[in-house]
Amino acid sequence: MLSERIKIAPSILSADFSNLKSQIKMVEEAGADLIHIDVMDGHFVPNITVGPMIVKAVNDITDLPLDVHLMISNPDFFLSEFVNSGADYISVHFETCSHLHQTVKKIKSFKKVKAGVAINPNTSITNLEDILPELDFVLVMSVNPGFSGQLFITNTLEKISSMKKMINERKLLVEIEVDGGINPKNAKEVIKAGATILVAGNSIFKQKDIQSAVRAFKRLEV
Ligand code: DX5
Ligand code: ZN
Repeated sequence: MLSERIKIAPSILSADFSNLKSQIKMVEEAGADLIHIDVMDGHFVPNITVGPMIVKAVNDITDLPLDVHLMISNPDFFLSEFVNSGADYISVHFETCSHLHQTVKKIKSFKKVKAGVAINPNTSITNLEDILPELDFVLVMSVNPGFSGQLFITNTLEKISSMKKMINERKLLVEIEVDGGINPKNAKEVIKAGATILVAGNSIFKQKDIQSAVRAFKRLEV
């Protein structure tokens, strides 16, 4: 069985939105740890998805913590709205923040919310060096953000290991979340590299049996 410190975060981007409630209940019952919600603005990424209204609806459906991944320009404008809608984890993209320290401080000012910074596949982890002590988690993208169902970019594994090393050297308790192209086959390597939060869209919601897909992750021996 997967150790308790590893969290599985199904991404509803791949869910059937006409049956969102039952799909979320299914992953919850099967042992999901977080619900990952991808917020896209059609500006930072070439896709538009959901906003605070849907986050609130999901919050009404489930007791699981909500992991809100903001792929939007100027995230500062919307932070309080997402918090009021029930976000428990919020990540902003490094590439969208001209005043990252200020943005992270703002997230942390909402006491109970965990603050994270996401980086695109071509963004170096060195960009996170100064902000790291302020963070609860970093989100390493293993695909280019915008769509579910893409292939895992394999050199992300090295990036996760280096990130883990950077965190350990500073004796910090920052978690590493990885997002994009994760399935039960490559999950072991992602965990071994240092990730403790695994996002999974297609490998859960696009499977015939959504619950066994969640359990396949939970059964992994790492
Ligand atoms: C991509 C999103 C991901 C996506 C993951 O921009 O951030 O959360 O939903 O989906 P899969 O697991 O199918 O790559
Ligand atoms: Zn995501």
